Amino acid sequence: MHPEESTGYSYEECRATADWLMAQMDVRPLVGIVCGSGLGGLAEMLKDQVAFNYKDIPNFPQSTVHGHAGRLVFGTLKGRACVCMQGRFHLYEGYPIQRITLPMRIFKLLGVETVILTNAAGGLNQDYRVGDIMIIKDHLNMPGFAGNNPLVGPNDERFGVRFPCMSDAYDRDLQQLAFDVGSELGYSDFLRKGVYCVLGGPSFETIAECRMLHKLGADAVGMSTVHEVLVARHCGMRCFALSLITNQSVMDYESEEKANHEEVLETGKLRAEQLERLVANMVMRIERNNNNDDDINLH
Ligand code: HPA
Repeated sequence: MHPEESTGYSYEECRATADWLMAQMDVRPLVGIVCGSGLGGLAEMLKDQVAFNYKDIPNFPQSTVHGHAGRLVFGTLKGRACVCMQGRFHLYEGYPIQRITLPMRIFKLLGVETVILTNAAGGLNQDYRVGDIMIIKDHLNMPGFAGNNPLVGPNDERFGVRFPCMSDAYDRDLQQLAFDVGSELGYSDFLRKGVYCVLGGPSFETIAECRMLHKLGADAVGMSTVHEVLVARHCGMRCFALSLITNQSVMDYESEEKANHEEVLETGKLRAEQLERLVANMVMRIERNNNNDDDINLH
């Protein structure tokens, strides 16, 4: 592909989408939330909602997955102005990777400083149980190893640098805050910290693939989040991410277990309320980002 034929959106297109949204409502969110499969209930918790269907927002892709609503919801969570993606976009839906991550740049242009992402994931770590909530401390980007990274293509310095650092992708203070809030809520027994591995999907992993990923250091595997984190970090937003372990990855040939999307959604329902409460209580305690070292002024 010639760089001029980039499949992403230009700065001006992103700006136009952000301006269109800001012209419709007064909420100026500092926190952006992305809801994973079966975890869209978080958006319902917002007060004084103003919601937009993705199909009505200029330049926005559409969510095509069962369990993903497809709305951008603005409102307040425990008094804090937030914007929430109820339904996200995945590589396996067939969109170019630069398009599925567009909302992160819109978040930035709306004034968001902190992004919280949730997902459903398979547990590779043998100590994990279905229903555990894993705080993501780091990631393995498998599509990235193969050259499929959302930052591929011409770099617009108005968003960020050509070669962004990723050793601090997941904000350590927010990880600590999650542990503190989680233990206050009595969630310590099912709160974990680990490495998330993203794959392209949509097929679930083979047994050999699960064994390989585990050996490589992954604790959980899924099909989202990492692309969004890359783009969010590129433009200087703080990131925090949680995986709900909805199934145990099949690691041995004797097992009769079979990964399936219905199981993912069912577990989501069982633990969703606690995950939502954890995020809501965190949002209430997130400090404004006074460290502007890597923050880029986009106005
Ligand atoms: N693999 C990949 N993605 C997933 C899984 C899984 O086992 N569970 C939920 N999302």
